[in-house]
Amino acid sequence: METEAPSRTGNGWTRVGKTLPVRNVQALAACTDELTAECLERYIRPDRDDGEVLSGEVPAIDLRRLLSPDHLEEEAARLRSACEDWGFFQLVNHGIPDEIIANIKRDIQEFFKLPLEVKNVYAQRPGDIQGYGQAFVLSEDQKLDWSDLFAIYAQPPEARDLSYWPTHPQTLRKSIEDYSSELMQVAHYVVTFIAKTLHIDTELMADKYVGQAFRMNYYPPCMSMAEKVLGFSPHSDGSFVTLLLQVNPVEGLQIRRHDAWIPVKPHPKALLVNVGDFLEIMSNGAYKSVEHRVTINANQERLSISAFHFPLFDGTISPVTRTPEEKVLYKTMKVKEYAELYMSNKLDGKRTLDHAKLL
Ligand code: OGA
Ligand code: NI
Repeated sequence: METEAPSRTGNGWTRVGKTLPVRNVQALAACTDELTAECLERYIRPDRDDGEVLSGEVPAIDLRRLLSPDHLEEEAARLRSACEDWGFFQLVNHGIPDEIIANIKRDIQEFFKLPLEVKNVYAQRPGDIQGYGQAFVLSEDQKLDWSDLFAIYAQPPEARDLSYWPTHPQTLRKSIEDYSSELMQVAHYVVTFIAKTLHIDTELMADKYVGQAFRMNYYPPCMSMAEKVLGFSPHSDGSFVTLLLQVNPVEGLQIRRHDAWIPVKPHPKALLVNVGDFLEIMSNGAYKSVEHRVTINANQERLSISAFHFPLFDGTISPVTRTPEEKVLYKTMKVKEYAELYMSNKLDGKRTLDHAKLL
C-alpha cells in the first residue's frame, strides 16, 4: 500500500498554487517586426504607477563581521536597522566560493539560450508551478509580466522533482545542487543573526526556513515599450527570507520606499537579501516585507535567481512579542493557509499580508 512520505517541507509546498499557460516572452520579444501594440496589449500597463523614482543605496551587511566576535555587536545593529528601515540588504562577504557562483550564473544563462523546444521539455505541467513558464497568471484578462521563469524546489532534497531538473547544459544540475547547499548555510547564518536582533529564540525559527525554492528569472529587453511594461508586478515575497543573485549586471529591480521607487544597483559581490511575509508576521511587524517590482531595459536582457526560504508547510506562523505590553498585530496562521492565500486569486485586491493583520 502506498503511504504518504513524511514530509519536512512538506511536499505540500509543491502542490500549492497553479498558473494559466501564456505565451513565451523570450520568443515574443525576439520577433521584433511583429511586435505591434495589439500583440503587446496584455503586457502594456496604462496604470503603471511610476510615482517618483529616487536614488538611494540599499545598506550592505557584512557576514564576516557578524561572525567575528569583535564586530558582531556593531554589525548586528546595522542588520537590525536595515531590516526595520529597508526590508532589504546587500549581504557581502557571504562566503560562497566564487566558482560556485560563477557556475550557476553561467549554466542559467546557457539554459535560457537553448531553443524553445528544448526548454519546453521542462515546461510547467498543468496545475504545477515548478518548471519553465510563468507564475501567478490566474485570469484570462489580467496584465502579464514581461518575463519567463524557471522554478524548482531544491530543499530539503526529498522535495526535488528531478523531472524538472534540466540535463542541458550538462553541469546545471550540479551547479544548482552546489549553490543550493551553500545558500542553506548562508540562510542559516542570516536567520540566526536576525533572531538575535529580534531577541527571539533561534530554536523558534528553526522550522521557518527548511524549504528552498529557486525562481530563475529571464527578462527580455523590450525595445519599443520598455517604459510601458513590467518584468515583475509589484509584490512582496511569500517567503521567510529571499536571497537573490543578480546574474548579469543589468539594473531592473526597484524597491518601494516612502511612496517612491528606488532602483537597486546590481552588486557584483553580494547576495541581495529581503524580509519575506512570514518574517514580517513573526517579527510582529518590526521587520517589513517590502513591496518591489522589476522594470525592463530597452536593449539588454536581465537575469536573476531568487531563492525563497520558507517554513515547514505543516507548521504555524505567529507573531512573537518581546514585552507584555507589545500589542499583537498579526494573526497566528497555519503556514499552509497563508501559502494558499498567497498563491490564490482570493485576495479581494488586498495584499496577502493584510489578511494576516489584526484590525
Ligand atoms: C522575485 C523577485 C526580482 C528580480 O523573484 O520574487 O522579486 O530582480 N525578483 O528578479
Ligand atoms: Ni520578489
